[in-house]
Amino acid sequence: MNLQGEKINAEVISVYPNKVKISVDNLEDFRIAEESLKVGSYLRILDNENAILIAIIENFSIEVRDDGKKDYIIEANPLGMIIDNEFIRGGDSIAIPPKKVEIAKEDEIVSIYEHSINDTEKFTFSSLSSNGNIKVPVNGNRFFNKHIAIVGSTGSGKSHTVSTILQKAVNEKIGDFDLNNSHIIIFDIHSEYSSAFPKANLLDINNLVLPYWLLKSDELTELFIDTEANDHNQKYIFKEAVVNNRRENFSGHEKENFRIHFDSPYFFDINKVLEFITKKNSEVIDTGEVYKSGDKKGQKKTVQGSLYGKLTNFVNRLENKVYDSRLKFLLGDKSKQITFEETIEQLLGYKQTQKSNITVIDLSGVPFEVLSITVSLISRIIFEYGYYYKRMRYSQNPEEKINNDIPILMVYEEAHKYVPKSDLLKYRASKEAIERIAKEGRKYGVSLLLSSQRPSEISETIFSQCNNFIAMRLTNPNDQLYVKRLLPDTLGNITDRMPTFKAGEALLLGDAVVLPSIVQIDKCTTPPSSNDIPYLDLWKEEWKNLNLPDIKTEWYKQ
Ligand SMILES: Nc1ncnc2c1ncn2[C@@H]1O[C@H](COP(=O)(O)OP(=O)(O)OP(=O)(O)O)[C@@H](O)[C@H]1O
Ligand SMILES: [Mg+2]
Repeated sequence: MNLQGEKINAEVISVYPNKVKISVDNLEDFRIAEESLKVGSYLRILDNENAILIAIIENFSIEVRDDGKKDYIIEANPLGMIIDNEFIRGGDSIAIPPKKVEIAKEDEIVSIYEHSINDTEKFTFSSLSSNGNIKVPVNGNRFFNKHIAIVGSTGSGKSHTVSTILQKAVNEKIGDFDLNNSHIIIFDIHSEYSSAFPKANLLDINNLVLPYWLLKSDELTELFIDTEANDHNQKYIFKEAVVNNRRENFSGHEKENFRIHFDSPYFFDINKVLEFITKKNSEVIDTGEVYKSGDKKGQKKTVQGSLYGKLTNFVNRLENKVYDSRLKFLLGDKSKQITFEETIEQLLGYKQTQKSNITVIDLSGVPFEVLSITVSLISRIIFEYGYYYKRMRYSQNPEEKINNDIPILMVYEEAHKYVPKSDLLKYRASKEAIERIAKEGRKYGVSLLLSSQRPSEISETIFSQCNNFIAMRLTNPNDQLYVKRLLPDTLGNITDRMPTFKAGEALLLGDAVVLPSIVQIDKCTTPPSSNDIPYLDLWKEEWKNLNLPDIKTEWYKQ
């Protein structure tokens, strides 16, 4: 345990599977010139067999000896062993007692990260927080193939991290071509991402067209029927109207094993459904008799239909939806005309006029009450695309090895808004669709990147399917606990640093990175637009006039 000649400077005083305790009598002597010593620095601990244990410093403390001299106690977490120049995770094979403790050399740490991943699979978007010279690559194939979660309090750097990762992904190329084969869909709830991706396929409530007729029966019910009223008449008549109209518009033939039903993905005209229900609400039935006397003598005798007057609230509700200009993207004329192919081209950036790696779907204008079904509809279309594309590939070539050669990443900002733990009806649609991708998407080339301020509020089903995590500054103890549970016991203490992370600093962990590491995410090239309003700067300016007529025009815009 002799570090520098005669002088005993650092000695290992205890070894546990998850902790090594080291006593140092003089910190100045212990550090190497160019390597500074701090929490997060790496140590190398050698044994007689010349296996090297690499450990990360977790904390320092000072003990005062009887003679008044101070000892510095360093506690470090063992990360893995370097044996024959190769780094292996896990630190339980060190021969005891260890012989020597030193600060790990920079090139040693570089080589751990560099050799952990084949060059062709390396994808790098961060460097070690304790030493910016050391890049931390992830295995890009594993990283994107399994789901990714980015968590952190507001302002910790999540949106910038998403931008950095995606900007790098669209720029990775194996040849000299313009567009690579990356395919990303971002659900952008705060209109942040168009500035980060100026070349993206930008969809918002003004140009997005979604076919309502692809909604599932649950979603149609949620959208059009007042479920709280629990009115069976409404459900029954709506279903009948939809199925009948689907039949009328269907050009093929129904057969014994093929019947049009409430869930069939075929067109129906919502205005005709409204018409049908309005008629039922005012239906009078001719009895075939005539009045023989009185005021109405000679007139036909009629009775009210069974639903006469009972559907007035429902008709009003339907009219409000069908004529709501905010819902044009879903129920307007274009939604009736759009074909299945056009829907997918639009969502995947395959438009004839413009091909794009990234599609940004700006959801800021989507009314809250249809947000969940909008997200669910898009997510399901993409999932099913993956599913059928795989089926097609295999039927065309049974030898096929790759399920999907056009794999897609779906990015959900503020994921707790679509996939919360809550079982409330209003979240059901998006939750079901995204949970399905979380569970099965990987097989079909559809994976998830979820970003959230509140990891403890996200559906467990979804989180448990994520394999790679970027945990940024987290101040809420429940959320910290959540991340702590993801870590192996031996590394639990790393999370103690989480509340003090700087913007862009993160704990990167998962099966795509050789070691859980505290990193600084690279800056993105063009940033997402910040929602920060410089209050004081603006208030200090001269009084501004307000143009109310223009605001009114915007407000009433059809
Ligand atoms: N990698 C980074 N390096 C340096 N600064 C960064 C980095 N990432 C983010 N920042 C800074 O941190 C601030 C907040 O970043 P960002 O908007 O990405 O946070 P956020 O976690 O998405 O917040 P919110 O939850 O409110 O959306 C920005 O002003 C940005 O400049
Ligand atoms: Mg953000």
